[in-house]
Amino acid sequence: SEGVIRRNRFSGGPARGFMSSLAADERIFEADLAVDRAHVVMLASQDIIESEVASEILAALDEVEAAGHDALSGGEDVHEAIEAAVIDIVGPDGGKMHTARSRNDEVATCIRYRLREDVLSALDAALALRESLLETAAAHTETVMPGYTHLQPAQPTTVAHFLLSYERAVARDCARLMCAYERINQSPLGSAAFAGTPFDVNRELAADLLGFDRVMENSMDASATRDFLAETLSALTTHAVTLSGLAADLVIFSNKGLVELSDDYSSTSSIMPQKKNPDTMELVRAVAGDAVGELTGLLTTLKGLPRAYNRDLQRAHKHAFRTVDDVGEAAAVAAGAVASATWPEDELAAAAGDGFSTATGVADLLAMAGLPFRTAHEVVAEAAARSEGTPDVATLDAVATDVLGESLFTHVTAEAVEAALDPTESVASRDSVGGPAPAAVEATLSTARDELSDD
Ligand code: ARG
Repeated sequence: SEGVIRRNRFSGGPARGFMSSLAADERIFEADLAVDRAHVVMLASQDIIESEVASEILAALDEVEAAGHDALSGGEDVHEAIEAAVIDIVGPDGGKMHTARSRNDEVATCIRYRLREDVLSALDAALALRESLLETAAAHTETVMPGYTHLQPAQPTTVAHFLLSYERAVARDCARLMCAYERINQSPLGSAAFAGTPFDVNRELAADLLGFDRVMENSMDASATRDFLAETLSALTTHAVTLSGLAADLVIFSNKGLVELSDDYSSTSSIMPQKKNPDTMELVRAVAGDAVGELTGLLTTLKGLPRAYNRDLQRAHKHAFRTVDDVGEAAAVAAGAVASATWPEDELAAAAGDGFSTATGVADLLAMAGLPFRTAHEVVAEAAARSEGTPDVATLDAVATDVLGESLFTHVTAEAVEAALDPTESVASRDSVGGPAPAAVEATLSTARDELSDD
C-alpha cells in the first residue's frame, strides 16, 4: 500500500516511528470508518463524487473494517492508513474519499465520536454507583455510626447520611459530565485543514449521519480546539477525586472495623495468612492521582498553542481516553464494593458515642433552654476536659454548678440530658433539612431517587 499512496514525501526518515500515531489510533479505528462513511455519503449526495465511486469506497471500507486495525499499514496515522487501504482496493478513485476534508477536521471528528461513547460508559458506571449508594443508604437510615471531622470523632450520624453525602457528589459529577458531553457532541467535519473548502459540502448532513447535535461554526476553531478534552477530563478528574474520598473512607472504616468489604473486593497478603486488605479501595483512591496527572499533561500540552492545527495535538487525546477508562472502571468497582459491603450495626452503634461525640447535642440542649450557645459550649467543654470519654449527668451538673453558679437542672431535666447523650437520640434530634435524622434522610433519598431516574 505504500507504493499506491504516493503523497508521503517525508515518509521514510528515522523519525517516522516517532511521528506515527497508528498504533495508538486503534482507539479511533471504528470512529474513523464511521467518519469516512458519513463523509463519502455526503460527498455523493452533494454530487461532489460519483455515486458509483462512493459505493466502491463504502464497500472497501467494509473490507477494511473486517480486516481490522491490525491489518493496516502504510500511513503515519489511522486516517492515512485507511485511505491507503481503500486506494489499494478501489484503485486511484479511492483517493476521492479525501475530497473536501483534511486529517485535521477528520481527527477532531473521530475523537469526538469516540469520546462521546466513552463518556456515556463512564456515566453508566457513575449512575450504577449512585444506585448502589442509594440502595445501601435506604437499608441503613437507622444505622447509627460515628461521624468524623479531622478524622476525630465529631457527631453521630447514620450510614445512610454518610452514603448519601457521596451520592449527592456523584450526582453533581454526572451533571458536569453531561455538560461536557453537550460540547463534545458537535461536528468539526467539513472544516478541512482549518480554512474551509470550495466544495459545496453539506456539513449538517455529515453531522446528522454521525449523530452530532450541530456543526461547529468557525472552521479554524472547529479543527484546532481541544477544549472539549480539557472540559471532559476535568469533569472526569473531579469525579475521580470524589471516588478517592469514598475509597479513603472505606479504607479507614475497614481499619476501624466499622465496615467489612466483601471478599470479592478485598485482597490478601502473600506472606501474612490472616490478612484481608481493602486493596480495591486503595486502587480506586489512586486513580485520582493518575487523573490529575493526565489533566495536567493535557492542559500543559494545550497551553500556548497557536491557531490552528499543531501536531502537538496528536498527543492530547490519549490523556482523556486513558482517564475515561480508569475512572469508569473505578466507579464500577466502587459500586460493587458499596453494594456488597457489610455495615456491622453493633460495632457502629458502640463507636458512635466515642470521644464524647454527643457533646454538641448537650450544648444545643442547654442553648435551646435559653443559655447563650457560647456559655453552653463552655460548660460542656469543661465537662469534656474533666472526664475521660462521655461525662455522666452528675458530672455535667457538677460542672454547670461550678461554671454557672447554678445547677444544670434549673435549665433542663435529667431525662433530656440523658437523651442528648444517647447517640441514637442525638441523630434523631438533628432533623433539619439535609440532616441525619431518619425523616430528613428519607427526604434526601427521595430527591436522589428522582434525580437518578431523570438522569
Ligand atoms: N494523527 C494526527 C493527530 O492525531 C492527525 C494528522 C494531522 N496531521 C497533520 N500533519 N496535519 O493529530
